[in-house]
Amino acid sequence: MFYKLLIVVFLAVSLQGTPSDGQKKKETLLSEKVSQMMEWASKRAVIRMNGEKFRRLIRAPPRNYSVVIMFTALQPQRQCAVCKQADEEYQILANSWRYSNAFTNRIFFATVDFDEGSDVFQMLNMNSAPTFINFPAKGKPKRADTYELQVRGFAAEQLARWVADRTDVHIRVIRPPNYAGPLMLGLLLAFIGSLAYLRRNNLEFLFNKNVWAFSALCFVLFMTSGQMWNHIRGPPYAHKNPNTGQVTP
Ligand SMILES: *[C@@H]1O[C@H](CO)[C@@H](O)[C@H](O)[C@H]1NC(C)=O
Repeated sequence: MFYKLLIVVFLAVSLQGTPSDGQKKKETLLSEKVSQMMEWASKRAVIRMNGEKFRRLIRAPPRNYSVVIMFTALQPQRQCAVCKQADEEYQILANSWRYSNAFTNRIFFATVDFDEGSDVFQMLNMNSAPTFINFPAKGKPKRADTYELQVRGFAAEQLARWVADRTDVHIRVIRPPNYAGPLMLGLLLAFIGSLAYLRRNNLEFLFNKNVWAFSALCFVLFMTSGQMWNHIRGPPYAHKNPNTGQVTP
């Protein structure tokens, strides 16, 4: 009777021992993966991945962090102009997260270039770039985890909204300041100043009707041109309706 009890107790203890051992191993593996991701993220906001890194840190469990991946083809010979523009916006998004006060190890931003990880493209049956996919912390990517680039465009703010939907991580997009505008204005003023300085003896060109008429015409043409429109509203994106094949702006 006593021996039987001993055996039962022994069995119970040993059965409990096995899964907690596995649990411990899993925990170690997970914290190794998290610190690896954190180390890369401290070096650059968008982590570059090849097939090996993708399989080890994203595909294989365990994982308690989300990873957003931009699948792209940035090599010049691929001639993907959209990839370059999308990459710029993605960098803005990732940097906004990387340098925000809210930065945590809950989500990472990564990229796989076709020329460094074509095996990943094959594995996921992917045939177009750029494509954004969120790999959630739990489970496999669902349909909505693939970003609808055709519909939403690739502005960093749109990407941030999608990330918030999918992961509950809210990122405030901060764009680097654009010095091109003020710089051009400064150059223009300097040019006009020097012109006036050089010709200060004969400023009669200021009283010439033709000069004023011509400048006014230039101003109107510039303001009504597409350049100004793009400056204010951003360039329009054309996209194709997959059902009808119609191209609409
Ligand atoms: C994920 O697990 C690791 C290891 O246990 C832990 O250090 C990290 O804080 C966890 N991350 C999240 C977002 O819970």
